[in-house]
Amino acid sequence: MAKNGAIKLVAGNSNPVLTREIGEYLQTPMTKAVVRRFADMEIFVEIQENVRGADVFVIQSTSFPANDHLMELLIITDALRRASARRITAVIPYFGYSRQDRKPGPRTPISAKLVANLITHAGANRVMTLDLHAGQIQGFFDIPTDNLYASPVMVRDIKERFDLEKLMVVSPDVGGVVRARGLAKRINAPLAIIDKRRERAGESEVMNVIGEPRGHVCILVDDIVDSGGTLVNAADALLEQGATEVYAYISHGVLSGGAVPRITGSRLKELVITDSIQPTEAVKNAPNIRVLPIAQLIGEAIGRTASEESVSSLFD
Ligand code: R5P
Repeated sequence: MAKNGAIKLVAGNSNPVLTREIGEYLQTPMTKAVVRRFADMEIFVEIQENVRGADVFVIQSTSFPANDHLMELLIITDALRRASARRITAVIPYFGYSRQDRKPGPRTPISAKLVANLITHAGANRVMTLDLHAGQIQGFFDIPTDNLYASPVMVRDIKERFDLEKLMVVSPDVGGVVRARGLAKRINAPLAIIDKRRERAGESEVMNVIGEPRGHVCILVDDIVDSGGTLVNAADALLEQGATEVYAYISHGVLSGGAVPRITGSRLKELVITDSIQPTEAVKNAPNIRVLPIAQLIGEAIGRTASEESVSSLFD
């Protein structure tokens, strides 16, 4: 335990509701800090309490507007380092830029690695995040990085709401099979995979369903819903193959552009997301989108990190 009190929680502006709930879970008030803008939109941070020798957790999702929220995280971390915090953990419930984890072509960046470098160089000693787009991104950091999973929260919800006998878990693309298989195992359900293919350039994508969804209530599992296109097309493909209903459990509701009307106007019975990204009013008012709170899980992981207890056992 740090000499200077137990733990300190510092919040960026990305997700005030989640931050407040994490503070309530840990019975720890937010450290007084000012994060504001100059007239030209430069960010200014002032930590208004002594953090010398403290174990500090900075909570900030690098969600929309991603660049502003990332800069806030970096500048808060710099301020804490210069104020002699003993240990700084960047708690990033949604790690933006994670989809840029490889070079898609010549002369392109690996932005996820650049962001990992920036966070480390700003002064973070540890990182805690949730359902990374790809597990290997952990290796982009040379500091301890805990990748938490929303699956216990999702599994609890699924067990409360569904007749497990009828369920089938579906990965909406080949890249998400490991994640979907993990959830299917936890609820003892069969697994199907959607294989998207464009047979010829200029022709529309064909959705091949590998598995037999006929007669099943299908649950699509993925890390991110952004435009919603993947989910809406997957739901159509599954219903055409005889699925009775299609739901989706997705960790991060990026939901940019026209995603919300696309989801509400779709044949998806319900989209369930976590609040790793603060839901907009449109998301909150959407009749077929529901938000599962993730604060307890993150709060528990923070508490365990502070007291040097196992975090992985949260997911056994
Ligand atoms: C991609 O690899 C991700 O796992 C998601 O499938 C993707 O980001 C979803 O994007 P959208 O909702 O725009 O189809």
